[in-house]
Amino acid sequence: MKKSFPGIFRSAYINCWYIPILLFLLGLKICLLFFLVTSIHPDDAFQKSVKLGQHIRTNSTTFSQEESALKLNGKKVGRRKKATSHKSTTAIPRELLEEWDTLAHLENAKIKPTHTNRTKADSIWLVLNRVPRCGGGTLVKLLEELAQRNGFSHQPHEYRTPWPRFLLEQEQESLVTWFEYQHLPKSYDRHFFFVNFTRYQKFTKENPIYINIVRDPVMRIQSEFMARRADKEIAKAEIMRRNEESPKSGLAWKKMRFEDCVVQEEEECQFGNGTPDFTLSIPFFCGQHNSCVAINDKWGAQMAKFNIERYYSVVGVLERMDQTLAVLENYVPKFFSGVTQIYNQLDEHEKGYFTRKPNGNDRPVSEKVRQILQRKLHAEMDVYRFALQRLSLQFAHLSVL
Ligand SMILES: *[C@@H]1O[C@H](CO)[C@@H](O)[C@H](O)[C@H]1NC(C)=O
Ligand SMILES: *[C@@H]1O[C@H](CO)[C@@H](O)[C@H](O)[C@H]1NC(C)=O
Ligand SMILES: *[C@@H]1O[C@H](CO)[C@@H](O)[C@H](O)[C@H]1NC(C)=O
Repeated sequence: MKKSFPGIFRSAYINCWYIPILLFLLGLKICLLFFLVTSIHPDDAFQKSVKLGQHIRTNSTTFSQEESALKLNGKKVGRRKKATSHKSTTAIPRELLEEWDTLAHLENAKIKPTHTNRTKADSIWLVLNRVPRCGGGTLVKLLEELAQRNGFSHQPHEYRTPWPRFLLEQEQESLVTWFEYQHLPKSYDRHFFFVNFTRYQKFTKENPIYINIVRDPVMRIQSEFMARRADKEIAKAEIMRRNEESPKSGLAWKKMRFEDCVVQEEEECQFGNGTPDFTLSIPFFCGQHNSCVAINDKWGAQMAKFNIERYYSVVGVLERMDQTLAVLENYVPKFFSGVTQIYNQLDEHEKGYFTRKPNGNDRPVSEKVRQILQRKLHAEMDVYRFALQRLSLQFAHLSVL
């Protein structure tokens, strides 16, 4: 009897000698997987480098065939969609049917801003696909401050220039996949055009909480103009490029005044209808389609409005910073709770980013120049007013609550 114990023990021990090794290997594998997942940076997904200001890619058709057909041949597809939806009206929510209808007749659809709360209670990702020159830098600063307080982490975009705003199909998919590996609340900021997450999601079926900030288009265009000249690298490259074309034209470009550029209809300030332009704000809301970057494209502007109303929790307005912060705080409390308090603690210099741009360059333009630009960029104005109206509705709604 006494001998059998060690015997049993020994045989069990011998039979199972490999279990610790298996456990060890399993642990190693989990560690490796964890390391792989956590070490992926969202920016690594974007290999294709594209030059800023050099009007990026002009050939990227990333909507599906069906969606393109929808755009090109709205009525036909619209009718077909409606017909199929009739069969199963019980299963499809009315809101979705209306959405399909709007998308099918987008160009002539009446898209109205509302105060609807688009924030889903269980969303854990916040995406700020920053329109440049709209005070996004300060908003990121606020997010970094809020991260500790509200228990999320902010993933800053490493602004290695050049970076693409227009993404290939595969790049969009990589971005979405990267988010799908984030199981803790996360905010992310970067300059890129709207990506429809639901198209690429494998596990989840929700768009992130999208937010953005816009600004009076005339002031923004002027700010872009100044920024191109204030940035040493960009200015130097541009001066060299122009000097090669015709001697001394580089310096003339650098010294040009914004007003002269507009009045004299220099190439940089022409804004011809249909010209691809990657510096406008519409594509940031419209998305990854060639029509989004075409100046005054009706479909592009309508798509931008549709996405703002349908997918954005908040689109703030730089000229209405107090309202923007109040609406952010109340519509996206998970991330922005306490933002007004933090904002009020910023010193004047930091706050100034919202009102007075760096370099002090943004003088009000003359009425004449404003008129010219508002006429030339009427779609930009239209979408800006839409965002302004929506923000006002959301702000007014807060007092009702
Ligand atoms: C755009 O891409 C398509 C498909 O990749 C190609 O066939 C076409 O020639 C391209 N067009 C231009 C203008 O580069
Ligand atoms: C909007 O929805 C979010 C998530 O459900 C909620 O936390 C927030 O309080 C809502 N805000 C308003 C103004 O309805
Ligand atoms: C986004 O993608 C989903 C799924 O593919 C689709 O149902 C929806 O219509 C798309 N939204 C837009 C605005 O294209």
